[in-house]
Amino acid sequence: MAALKYAGMDDTDSEDELPPGWEERSTKDGWVYYANHEEMKTQWDHPKTGKKRRCAGDLPYGWEQEMDDKGQIFYVDHINKRKTYFDPRQAFTVEDVLVKPKRYDGNTAALEILQGRDLSDRVVLITGGNSGIGFETAKSFALHGAHVILACRNLSKAIKAVSLIQQEWHKARLEAMMLDLASLRSVREFADSFKTKKLPLHILICNAAVCTQPWRLTEDGLESTFQVCHLGHFLLVQCLQEVLRRSAPARVVVVSSESHRFTDLLDQCGKVDLAVLSPPQKDYWSMLAYNRAKLCNLLFSNELHRRLSLHGVTCNAVHPGNMMYTAIHRSWWLMTLFFTLARPFTKSMQQGAATTVYCAVAPELEGLGGMYFNNCFRCLPSSQAEDQVTAASLWELSERLVSERPTGLQAL
Ligand SMILES: NC(=O)c1ccc[n+]([C@@H]2O[C@H](COP(=O)([O-])OP(=O)(O)OC[C@H]3O[C@@H](n4cnc5c(N)ncnc54)[C@H](OP(=O)(O)O)[C@@H]3O)[C@@H](O)[C@H]2O)c1
Repeated sequence: MAALKYAGMDDTDSEDELPPGWEERSTKDGWVYYANHEEMKTQWDHPKTGKKRRCAGDLPYGWEQEMDDKGQIFYVDHINKRKTYFDPRQAFTVEDVLVKPKRYDGNTAALEILQGRDLSDRVVLITGGNSGIGFETAKSFALHGAHVILACRNLSKAIKAVSLIQQEWHKARLEAMMLDLASLRSVREFADSFKTKKLPLHILICNAAVCTQPWRLTEDGLESTFQVCHLGHFLLVQCLQEVLRRSAPARVVVVSSESHRFTDLLDQCGKVDLAVLSPPQKDYWSMLAYNRAKLCNLLFSNELHRRLSLHGVTCNAVHPGNMMYTAIHRSWWLMTLFFTLARPFTKSMQQGAATTVYCAVAPELEGLGGMYFNNCFRCLPSSQAEDQVTAASLWELSERLVSERPTGLQAL
């Protein structure tokens, strides 16, 4: 006893010591329970400490578990030829402590969420990964060993982004690939060349966007904000669907925005109308087009989850933060002014990437989707964003648009 006290171990033992009349036993699958012979009762909690315990690991070598005539479990030590009702694994019990998921918030950085994570068996694809939030997201995954593909409309910018990240860690595995979301042809070509790499795809981040652009039709004859933010991503997921399903569990994260709340998609008859999504120049207001495209992002994310989650592919949408100083404001001087004024009060790029990274890797979100996250917390989107009929109509319209334009160069 004195030796134990000297070693500082006596206190630990006495805490776990059972009061008179109690006996420690274990179930077949290793849970420890306590039997009181005087009161003829059993319970899972230790009568003194209140803790639950379970046996760690397998039985020691040479031991076997058996059952007697009364249905009681006993243990046979074949090497020393003895029997006991005491589970030898009880020498190595561990407390049944529920590991609570870590809580993150608006101040959390993407790298903080990935701390200690080895993503070397993951393949991540990020659209618009060459700048802003997409770049920071790509960097965070690559610094944790993931194989990251930057799918960008400007290949030289993408190559520069790859080399910037590799300057931080020379072993980072990144690839730059050409993808112009404003061209359905380019999306199809990208998907084909991705497939020739025979890679799996565990995480797809639909991040790229344009905001407050002057009215412009794409080569497919559609308004460009709508096509870049929504339709291009829609087709991308369609083309890579099989790869995602084969790589299950896989996650898609769609980067939307709180600005989805300031608009709706429906025409006067309450239908999803192409003339609203891809308006002619006379009806075009760039900010409204962006808000609508961000609402499409949310509806698409929810519908995608409904359709693919049965196949192990889940999808969530995120708001990365308010007015972060990226290149998104560059098309309109007024936006640039607002973003410049707000700059001291907005999130850092690492904080801006956090919610996306959280949705892509959080263990507690495994198998879960169809949700909207802000500041790494689930929040409620606008009521229209949750409307399943609108989401299904948008899906059908998008399907029609991409199938009607198999090769690009089509007029509206
Ligand atoms: N910044 C914010 O405050 C904020 C707030 C809410 C939501 N968001 C969302 O966050 C996401 C990232 O935006 P960001 O702020 O990081 O802006 P950003 O720096 O401008 O990044 C946008 C990315 O999309 C790419 N892109 C644009 N058009 C494309 C096309 N046709 N094909 C392929 N890629 C294209 C851009 O490529 P180039 O470099 O070649 O232009 C760029 O890499 C967007 O979905 C945005 O809606 C941002």
